[in-house]
Amino acid sequence: MKQQSNKQFSINSFPRVRMRRNRLSDFSRKLISENTLSVNDLIYPIFITYGSNVKEEISSMPGIYRFSLDLLHKEIEYISSLKIPVIALFPKIESELKTPDGKEALNKNNLICKAIKISKKINPDLGVITDVALDPYTDHGHDGIIHNNQIDNDLTLNILCKQAMVQAEAGCDIIAPSDMMDGRVGVIRDTLDDHGLVNIQIMSYAAKYASSFYGPFRDAVGSVQNLSNKSKKSYQMDPANSSEALREIRLDINEGADMIIIKPGMPYLDIIQKAKKEYEFPIIAYQVSGEYSMIKGAIQNGWFDEENIILETMMCFKRAGCNGIITYFAPYVADKLITNLK
Ligand code: PBG
Repeated sequence: MKQQSNKQFSINSFPRVRMRRNRLSDFSRKLISENTLSVNDLIYPIFITYGSNVKEEISSMPGIYRFSLDLLHKEIEYISSLKIPVIALFPKIESELKTPDGKEALNKNNLICKAIKISKKINPDLGVITDVALDPYTDHGHDGIIHNNQIDNDLTLNILCKQAMVQAEAGCDIIAPSDMMDGRVGVIRDTLDDHGLVNIQIMSYAAKYASSFYGPFRDAVGSVQNLSNKSKKSYQMDPANSSEALREIRLDINEGADMIIIKPGMPYLDIIQKAKKEYEFPIIAYQVSGEYSMIKGAIQNGWFDEENIILETMMCFKRAGCNGIITYFAPYVADKLITNLK
């Protein structure tokens, strides 16, 4: 009698309920899985540089290279063979071409435009994202124009629109403003539309934090040596804030963004989840250079199992609500997804 009543009491708990039952076998774990990862979720950033026959490893990002244009086709073919749907191109330009106003960004024949054309020639179906921001082109390493000792928002907007046009005319599919100037999504959308480029998408870095996790990237595009007054805090967000991120995202959606990026990725999963809940909008996470280098460094030291740690981080992004992930691990992940299917 005593035992029976005990059982009634425990109807929704142990020992009747055993959470491990569903986890015991592989088939069952597959069945109850709440999120899936596919190659379609991946965006691969590629660094390009001047010169010829250059494939140089970025010292702070082991396994990631800068390619000169003559070697880019091989990388594009490789990425295409893995069926990664989209790439994001980032240029490292000659220091002689860097100026206070970053005007090389507007050269229709600059590195990025040439790279877009190469990619499109080799695989027109591979989506191409290009960054709109001036930091690879300015001699001070900031994303905008400096006027009276400040990054001048409105002066910068004008040049960003022109930069977006140059990239769109070269054939990119998606413009990704990463500069964090106010109002840039709206003016870029208007500029593209005024020129009939209504189908060029805008993937805005809506919530981009002033983060130390970008260190290796600045090394990769060669902006770190130049970055005068190293802080980007007057335009990128304070890591303490999350309501502000929701405001930023709302503004970019209202200005006409098609998708939004939250960056960095893993340390900011709370922002991804809040944004997804609030806006039901396509959300992309950027697993940035510092996250890559941290994980890669630990793998190289034998502290993490490579496949498990990388795939786990990908799944964390999916669980938080991401539609896509910009990650330097994209080829590795795509390759594993293909082999794990076999
Ligand atoms: C430049 C830009 C940065 C990144 C992407 N675009 C760096 C920065 O804002 O300083 C960072 C990417 C990474 O760390 O992987 N506007």
